[in-house]
Amino acid sequence: MSHPVRRLHSLHIRQGHPDFLDLPWELPLEAWSERSPRVVEVPRGLSRHVVLFVSYGATIYAFKETPARVAQREYDLLRGLEDRRLPSVVPVGLAIQTEAGHDSVPDDRPAMLITQYLASSLPYRALFMQQGLERYRSRLLDAMAGLLVRLHLGGFFWGDCSLSNVLFRRDAGELQAYAVDAETSELHEQLSPGQREMDLQIMEENVAGGLADLAARVELPEELPAELEAWQETATSIRQRYERLWAEINRELILQPHESYRIHERIRTLNDLGFSVGEVELLASAQGSQLRMRTIVTDREYHRHQLHTLTGIVAEERQASLLLNEMQEMKATLTRKLDRSVPLSVAAFRWLDERYHPALSQLQKDLGRAADTAELYCQVLEHKWFLSERAKRDVGLDAALQDYVTLSRKQPGIAPLVEDATRAAQEASEFAPALEADADVLPPRSVT
Ligand SMILES: Nc1ncnc2c1ncn2[C@@H]1O[C@H](COP(=O)(O)OP(=O)(O)OP(=O)(O)O)[C@@H](O)[C@H]1O
Ligand SMILES: [Mg+2]
Repeated sequence: MSHPVRRLHSLHIRQGHPDFLDLPWELPLEAWSERSPRVVEVPRGLSRHVVLFVSYGATIYAFKETPARVAQREYDLLRGLEDRRLPSVVPVGLAIQTEAGHDSVPDDRPAMLITQYLASSLPYRALFMQQGLERYRSRLLDAMAGLLVRLHLGGFFWGDCSLSNVLFRRDAGELQAYAVDAETSELHEQLSPGQREMDLQIMEENVAGGLADLAARVELPEELPAELEAWQETATSIRQRYERLWAEINRELILQPHESYRIHERIRTLNDLGFSVGEVELLASAQGSQLRMRTIVTDREYHRHQLHTLTGIVAEERQASLLLNEMQEMKATLTRKLDRSVPLSVAAFRWLDERYHPALSQLQKDLGRAADTAELYCQVLEHKWFLSERAKRDVGLDAALQDYVTLSRKQPGIAPLVEDATRAAQEASEFAPALEADADVLPPRSVT
């Protein structure tokens, strides 16, 4: 098929990424698959725009074509989300093309928003259709509700929350959700109740519509959880989970001046839900005899931060919480053995050296490269608990690891491994050097 000739007009790329100049910029995105060996297939959601994935070594990028004005706006919004440390795809760059005969309004030029592919992410369709992922389906509701709460706390009005605009990552038996597609969004200092309500209504409409659409296109699995059977109820259930979580986070506590332990209790409850508490406000009540306590949560990454500080491992929130528990166990065992208190940092070091790294290198030998190492390790831990419960004794990590390997070989799809197709594509495409700093790359031929 022939296309009107395009040219690269400008390309803005953030530090640490390739310059992308070897891509077929003279073509619209829809024609890239035929021309560039870098284009790869990955599981993805539905979209109105053309969206393609391109691989540079081990890193995959998503390219979405929209008019320049729209792409710039979405790029800015995603940068804003990143600055506020909210869970979303990360913007990498913005490319603007020119098209012969269609260049009168610069804002309407064809453009491409480039984002980093969210590694190991699953679009909701994969959760419904891929074998081995059944257990996650009902988790999807909590994950979506949790995502909306976090975005709203951060002042993000989404305007288009839908199943297709959320990506899910496995998180030690649960799911974490990330926003993709911020085309219709707005960032504010704080959202009003009206803005939050509007976003919830849009979410309900989109989710019910998305599920009805999915049912019309594919045969949904028979063992669909009851909650997901009725489209409208599913959407309502996400709202209810959202409202419960929102109320819990924003709950004010009334305490007596001598009840300071309740402050710690409240902080711990929020930490257990994964929220970091940035500030605690204590105000004297009108009568003066009581205190009103308000907590301000800053993010939902309490355990992630702690794990990262101790070990350098980047994990999801629940994964981090499980790994920290294992370190705490090790700390307790060491303390008992050595008959003196052992700091968590020492236990963390031993845990990395004696458990985490050896287990992962064994898994890599037996199963291949992990797409998500923390998740893989957590699955082995979970398997260990399962076997231990069945055997009514601690079966140990080695036995669990061996059994997990046997099980994963029998049932591919369970373990979060780099898929063969993606791996082949990654290995085939040669690695391009990364840019040292944010750059506007303007090849001389592109200036019109
Ligand atoms: N960075 C990314 N990482 C992983 N998947 C991505 C990424 N960017 C886009 N996708 C996938 O591509 C799909 C389409 O992207 P996106 O929602 O931005 O397109 P759209 O055309 O704006 O969608 P809509 O029809 O909702 O307006 C998403 O559902 C998601 O599955
Ligand atoms: Mg979308």
